[in-house]
Amino acid sequence: MNNIPAVMIIFGGSGDLAHRKIYPALFNLYRQGLIQDNFAVIGTARRPWSHDYLREVVSTAVHEFFGEVNEDDLAAFASHFYYQSHDVTSVDHYKTLKKLASDLDEKYACQGNRIFYLAMAPSFFGTIAEHIADQHLTGTGFNRLIVEKPFGTDLASAQVLNKQIRSSFNEEQVFRIDHYLGKEMVQNILPLRFANPMIKVLWNKDNIKNIQVTLAERLGVEARGGYYDQSGAMRDMVQNHIFQIITLLAMPEPSRLTDQEIHVAKEALLDSLVIPDEAAVARDFVRGQYAGTETTFEYVKEPNVDPDSNTETFVAGHVEFKHGPLAGVPIYFRTGKEMREKKTRIDVVFKGQRSLYGQVADNTLTIEVDPTDQIYFHLNGKTIQGGDLRKEKIYYRFSDEEQAKVPDGYERLIRDVFVNDSTNFTRWNELRQYWKFVDAVEAAWQKQNEAGVKPVKYPPYLLGPAESKQVFQDPGDSWIYK
Ligand code: BG6
Repeated sequence: MNNIPAVMIIFGGSGDLAHRKIYPALFNLYRQGLIQDNFAVIGTARRPWSHDYLREVVSTAVHEFFGEVNEDDLAAFASHFYYQSHDVTSVDHYKTLKKLASDLDEKYACQGNRIFYLAMAPSFFGTIAEHIADQHLTGTGFNRLIVEKPFGTDLASAQVLNKQIRSSFNEEQVFRIDHYLGKEMVQNILPLRFANPMIKVLWNKDNIKNIQVTLAERLGVEARGGYYDQSGAMRDMVQNHIFQIITLLAMPEPSRLTDQEIHVAKEALLDSLVIPDEAAVARDFVRGQYAGTETTFEYVKEPNVDPDSNTETFVAGHVEFKHGPLAGVPIYFRTGKEMREKKTRIDVVFKGQRSLYGQVADNTLTIEVDPTDQIYFHLNGKTIQGGDLRKEKIYYRFSDEEQAKVPDGYERLIRDVFVNDSTNFTRWNELRQYWKFVDAVEAAWQKQNEAGVKPVKYPPYLLGPAESKQVFQDPGDSWIYK
């Protein structure tokens, strides 16, 4: 599909996300012809920028991302950008915005299509959505809303936000972003499971012992202490990214590969999500906070962090479903800041079989999402000399040339919005279940805080607290990624 006409309104047009991700993504979609002459982008934010200034910002953002580009293309692309200084609480500003959008619609023949992108402080999402409704900003063609994370801070606030959004958009028009769903190897989970008969027959509770999802980050909270201290690893990474990965790993096979059927399969799985009680959280979850080194701050000394904070910068635990192919199989997860290296990977551990060779290593299938896109399988075989067994890896991976062509997740997801494919976005019913789980864990931790139980301190740049091995139900199990 090419040349999809639309006026896109970005709330947060002067922000970091627009600069780093959205503008470069739109430029690439323009180079590919998805958007051509019939589009306009209105950037809005409080700052008093001019159209020309925004166009300069867009050009800089594109250069920073792609390096050298065709300058004529870039100038033509940037000329479609307009800026409106906007106070999201002022009704008058929505009136001006509406007028600008319809003028641009006429100028560029955008057929009444609108894409609204909420890419600013989440506390304003609801207000903006309500004013889009009461000031009738929607167009006469298609109307779509892209919402960044976080979508609420707990189930109750997410419900309020959802209601505000649904006052002007129906569920099919709402695209809740989770940028992990734009990553190459996350998008490869379903093909891996369902396009390989060998894997498909093994992917069930009879053959899989456990799955381990690791999202490790080398960086600390950096300049985001203010946000992070209110959030913590559970809300920042588990509620969205980890849960989306786990859902793809555990969902039943959809009846067709349409966005509709994929969401039906996900929801069927998530209805059977086991919500942990207080005792289960105390027993099966580990929360940690990074300690300092001679040259780095400990978490509670980071700028804008409460010195008595109990916010976790690391969490490990597990998720379990009552139904689906992996019913009852523990899916372990861990994520943290200031860990050894940036690494996002999934290890699928197959059950050991009784073997003529005695105790053999588990067969494991590893999906690496970051920093490299690859999948590998561990096989046991004989050593050349005979006698012992050895373990070898079989790879599915890209050449350097292919790897360089893997698009940024944002480009993929924004393209999906233009072509109206909601496969890789979060539906409300999924989000609701994720929040139920996270709320239960947070409530249990709150009780622990009141009882004076604090997160464990862990030494930076390793794999989190040593206690994280306590999450395993079978004491014989351990983290595959060590
Ligand atoms: C974001 C979190 O959603 O994901 C950040 O808010 C985190 O804290 C980031 O650093 C990680 O994303 P990626 O793509 O770098 O793994």
